[in-house]
Amino acid sequence: MRGDTTKAPINKFTMLSEVTSQEIGDLKTLEQFIIERQEEHEHSTGSFSRLIRDLSVAAKIVNWHMRRGGINNIFGTTGEINVHGEVQQVMDLLAHKEFVRALRRGGECCLIGSEEHSEAIPIATNGDSDGDYIVLLDPLDGSSNIEVNVSVGTIFSIYRLPAGWGTPTVEAALQPGVKQIGAGYVVYGSSTILVYTTGHGVNGFTLDPSIGEFVLSHPNIRIPDDGKMYSINEGNYNSFEPGLRRYIKWMQTENSEQNLPLSTRYIGSFVADFHRNLLKGGLYMYPSTRNNRNGKLRLMYEANPLAFIAEQAGGGATDGHNRILEITPEKLHQRTPLYIGSKLMLDKAHSFLRGD
Ligand code: AHG
Ligand code: MN
Ligand code: MN
Repeated sequence: MRGDTTKAPINKFTMLSEVTSQEIGDLKTLEQFIIERQEEHEHSTGSFSRLIRDLSVAAKIVNWHMRRGGINNIFGTTGEINVHGEVQQVMDLLAHKEFVRALRRGGECCLIGSEEHSEAIPIATNGDSDGDYIVLLDPLDGSSNIEVNVSVGTIFSIYRLPAGWGTPTVEAALQPGVKQIGAGYVVYGSSTILVYTTGHGVNGFTLDPSIGEFVLSHPNIRIPDDGKMYSINEGNYNSFEPGLRRYIKWMQTENSEQNLPLSTRYIGSFVADFHRNLLKGGLYMYPSTRNNRNGKLRLMYEANPLAFIAEQAGGGATDGHNRILEITPEKLHQRTPLYIGSKLMLDKAHSFLRGD
């Protein structure tokens, strides 16, 4: 496990048998972790734990589809355009259906908002389940990268149905990000990792394919205060606002005393860019452009959940001026400019945007 200094480091001379005995002895599954933490958290009742479990089961199923995608011939487009005017991939729809199915079956969730569905989806609950959680989802982030084997992911955001609300409607989901009681993401990458927060730090769990469980691999993640990498689609440079263009030029300056220039890393899967920056330090930006004043990313499915995680890990997230988590949403599918990542990099970006 990362950060554990009590074990001998694994190196190329370590016998496989030693590796397995070291590693297997230490496994803590997501389920064990949730149960352990349940009492610490105001919101982590049994039903909240079951909700996280339902999401993790859907993630495993999507992961399974993903790993066989090229063989099953399910990479490619549906021929449909989604509510955002973007080409819908078969895997977008498949991931959407798997998450909705898992949440419906679980019975803890009363309303789902998905990037791949124009309306909010009410979930009729039955039996003894209250189902008072609202889940907002980007079922598959970075889907244009699927066909070329680049990391993609799922992002989720959890709210509680406001007390005394009655029948869940879309308005119940239009809460500012500060009201989230949980948020997380999964990256289907070189390994599959699930990272989540309930407002008490950030923890990451890697899917162990041999036992089919997410196991704690990244406890208490903290984002470095400063980083060497910035992530932005620089092809849009000429339509960025002047302050941002100056910031980019500053990051490209050759000045060893200031540790410049920085490096660019841009995958085109927000969740993967975010994950790298979270672990290594960095700043991801999808700003306002001349033609898209609100940028591209969706407030409820992408910006809010990852802003919650960034803040919990010691970083920050803004639209260039205001804290993302304090934006009052007007529409489920609304977009927002986004600057997210290491604190000092975010401060620097702000000073250029203000024209200091
Ligand atoms: P999605 O696949 O859910 O529609 O999201 C795509 C987003 C995000 O993942 C990525 O960072 C960004 O689009 C890339 O956009 P550009 O191609 O405009 O850079
Ligand atoms: Mn997305
Ligand atoms: Mn998506």
